[in-house]
Parts: sequence; structure tokens; C-alpha cells
Amino acid sequence: KVFGQAKRINVFGQAKSKVETVVPIHLLVRGAHLYNRARRVVDKSERSPVFIEAPIPDGANVKLADIDTGNPFLYRQGQWLSHFKRLRDDAPVHYQPKGPFGPFWSVTRYDDILAMDKNHHLFSAEPYIFMGKPPAGFDIEMFIAMDPPKHDVQRQAVQGVVAPKNLKEMEQLIRSRVQEVLDGLPVGESFNWVDRVSIELTGRMLATLLDYPYEDRRELTVISDLASGVPAATGGTSDLDETFNYAVPLLRKVMHLWHDKAARIAAGEAPGFDLLSLMLTDDETKNLIDRPMEFLGNFLLLVVGGNDTTRNSMTGGVYALNKFPDEFVKLKANPKLIPNMVSEIIRWQTPLAYMCRRAKEDTVLNGQHIRKGDKLVMWYSSGNRDERHFDRPNELVIDRSNARSHIAFGFGIHRCMGNRLAEMQLRILWEELLERFENIEVVGEPEIVQSNFVRGYSKMMVKLTAKQ
Ligand code: HEM
Repeated sequence: KVFGQAKRINVFGQAKSKVETVVPIHLLVRGAHLYNRARRVVDKSERSPVFIEAPIPDGANVKLADIDTGNPFLYRQGQWLSHFKRLRDDAPVHYQPKGPFGPFWSVTRYDDILAMDKNHHLFSAEPYIFMGKPPAGFDIEMFIAMDPPKHDVQRQAVQGVVAPKNLKEMEQLIRSRVQEVLDGLPVGESFNWVDRVSIELTGRMLATLLDYPYEDRRELTVISDLASGVPAATGGTSDLDETFNYAVPLLRKVMHLWHDKAARIAAGEAPGFDLLSLMLTDDETKNLIDRPMEFLGNFLLLVVGGNDTTRNSMTGGVYALNKFPDEFVKLKANPKLIPNMVSEIIRWQTPLAYMCRRAKEDTVLNGQHIRKGDKLVMWYSSGNRDERHFDRPNELVIDRSNARSHIAFGFGIHRCMGNRLAEMQLRILWEELLERFENIEVVGEPEIVQSNFVRGYSKMMVKLTAKQ
């Protein structure tokens, strides 16, 4: 569909649907950029908020009324642990009346989050799943933020890209790419794991999923980081002009890829197992390019959904095994633990801290009266550390018996579509790492990104020891 904000002005005119069918995606985005710039001039509330980092006190010493879960430095400073513990214990459904992201409830216990995520009749994923709002003109519709029936139709159209048959086809390719990356790493000297391994492998995986030109795969990482780092949405550091300017040529390229592939398939070439091939060969989606904003939503959702998440689990796993070295010893003694460890790493890292919902009716949640329209944040990062559900929740325990019950992939109708792919990518990475290296030593504390949404690393220096 469309940019919500664009609907309200006349950039794309009243005859929206007609215009949409003729204006290519990149020009729509260019138009949205102009609109966004104009809005920033006339409306102060459309300018990006600036967040200045200040030391955050321990959550045990903060008044409940002063707890700010939207602070984008909470994770970087490690204080998220004490703040969320405080909320789980003393105010598990906690109201925050003001702040840069507006009023919202924080839901922090495992059971409450699960109950909410399962109940999409009462808790809507619309209009956004992040805490703040998208910048004017960048309000793209994605099915992660849609309720049924629209959600179900759109998810159905693209989920074949991660269907078991497709994953099987991809497994060998992913493995050979992992091998290539690991074989090129320096041994005995320190290097940035985030850049050389996590970003590189995630970029390769995404380029495969989307059949994006392999040599340009880093562009997918850049656009994804820019989109998920919008300050008004997640407290990140993206510059709006840079984001729009980066999106335009990238989308022009995607459009060409689509038309090129359509022509090749029409000429008899067998379709691949990538997103574009699937869309082009499904009756529901074969003309999706004529509904540019719907196409854009699906494309970006896969890029953003698959990027920060898998990447930060790759870094988080190495970090966690360094924090809990006995677990690394356990792993080397029994590599069969890898699949369970992958779930445990995803629980421990919880790369996306939360999803937002809006109450569709007045209701009561764990004793708190919620009003229709209220915004609620389901803190997966807190639910996955809830001592009511997980024993010693802050520790990485690779043979934890209930690791698979983590909620880092969400639950219910929006449960992560790419969860099997992410698990496969991580399983292969760890299988290949154990083949080659005796140790992966983290040298120095990692750098953590500024965000209240993405729990990510921008840099982590490591040193490898080869296996004898
Ligand atoms: C949805 C996490 C990997 C694509 C989600 C949700 C979460 C999540 C929390 C929302 C769930 C909810 O609202 O209940 C993760 C984590 C990953 C990961 C932790 C890796 C460790 C991926 C990958 C892809 C992907 C690799 C790409 C194929 C999606 C899509 C949705 C989604 C398309 C929307 C599903 C819907 O609304 O029906 N993911 N994700 N994710 N994820 Fe992932």
C-alpha cells in the first residue's frame, strides 16, 4: 500500500491508487523525502529527537515513576538488567506517561507477554511495532504491523522463501559461504568480529534470499541499519536525509532486478528460490511491483527482519561464551549441543528488545486497567530474563532444558517468519567454527549500538586460536 503520511497531503494526489500504479518506487520515495523535508521545516515535532548519553543509575535505586525503558542507552550501559528486574518484581505492567516516544505501558513478565502476543484480537500490531513513530513520509506498511486479514494474506504470499524445502536448498550454499568467510579470517591477531563475520554472513544470507547482486550485499546492511536506527522511532542515530538518499538508488536497482527477472522467467528460465522469483510466480503477487508500497514493505521487512537479528545473535553468541567459558568447554566436549545452544544464544541475546501493540478495547492486564488505544510494549528482552520462567536467567546455559521456550521470536500470528532460517544460519556457523578453532577470545568490551529496539553490537574485537 502507501506511505500513511503521504496519504494525508497531496504529494501523490487524491487519485492515489491510479498514481501508485504508474509511479515507480524510487520516485515515490524521492517524493516522500521532499515531503519529509518540508514537514521538518514547518513542524518541529517532525525533527529528529537528539539523545544525549548520561550515566544511568542502578534500577534498584530509581523511583518506579522515574524508570524510563525508552532510554536508548539502557542496554549499552548494562542497566537494562536492573531496571527490568525492578519492573518485573514491583510493577510488571508499568505506565510511563511521558517521554520522547509518548505514553506507553511496559509489560515485562514472561507470562504476561505471552498472553498478549497470543491475543491479537485484543492487542493490535497496527500502526507500528516500534515505540516511537516513523518520520513523515517513511510510514511504509509491512505485515509485521498489520492485523488479520491483511496480515495473513501478505505473510502467506512471501513465506515460501523460508519454507522447509527452500531452506534445504539453501543449506549447502549457506554452509559454503560460511566456510569461505571463516577460512579467510586471520588467526592469532585481533580483528572486528562484527564486520568480518556477523555482517558479512548476514549480508550473504540476505543477498541469497532476495537474489540481490552478491557484490553489492553490504548495501542491504546499510539500508537496514538506517531504517531501524530512525531516532524518533527507536532512539537510534540515523540521519533522515541520508536514509532517504540511500533508499532511492537502491530501490531503483530492486525495480530493475524485478523486471529483469520477470523477463527471464517469461523467456523460459527456471525461477530460483529467492523472494523475487517466488513473488513473480505466485498469482497473488506477480504484479506486486504495480503496488509499489506493498512491494517495498515486503522487501524491507525481509531485509530489516533478517539483518540486525541474525547478525547480533552471531556476535552475542561469541560474547556470551566468553562470559561463561565453562559453557565453551562443555560445547567443545559435546558439539551435539549446538542446536540447543543456538536457542539459548537467541534467548540470551534477544536481538529485538520488544514489539509494540495497541489495546483494541478497555481491558485489565495483571491488575492494571488498560484503556482502548493505549500503547503497550512487550519487552521480550525482559521476558527472556524472567526468573519466574528461566532458572538463573542471566547466565548462558547451553544445555538449558527450556531454552526453546524463549520468546525472542515473539509468539502468535506474528511469530518470526525467518526463525528456522536464522537458527540454521547460526547452527552452521557454530558447526564450522568448532571444526576450525580452539578458541575465540573476545579482546576488550564490545561496542553497543544506541537504540531501545535493537540489542546490537557495532564492534567486537576477537582473537582466534586455530585447532591443532
Ligand atoms: C517477525 C525476531 C530472524 C523475518 C519477528 C518478530 C520478532 C522477530 C520478535 C515479531 C514477532 C511478534 O510480533 O510476535 C527475530 C529474531 C531473529 C529473526 C530474534 C534471529 C535471531 C529473521 C530472519 C528473517 C525474519 C532471518 C528473514 C527471513 C521476519 C518477518 C517477520 C518477523 C518477515 C514478520 C512476521 C509476521 O508479522 O507475521 N522476528 N527474527 N526474521 N521476522 Fe524475524
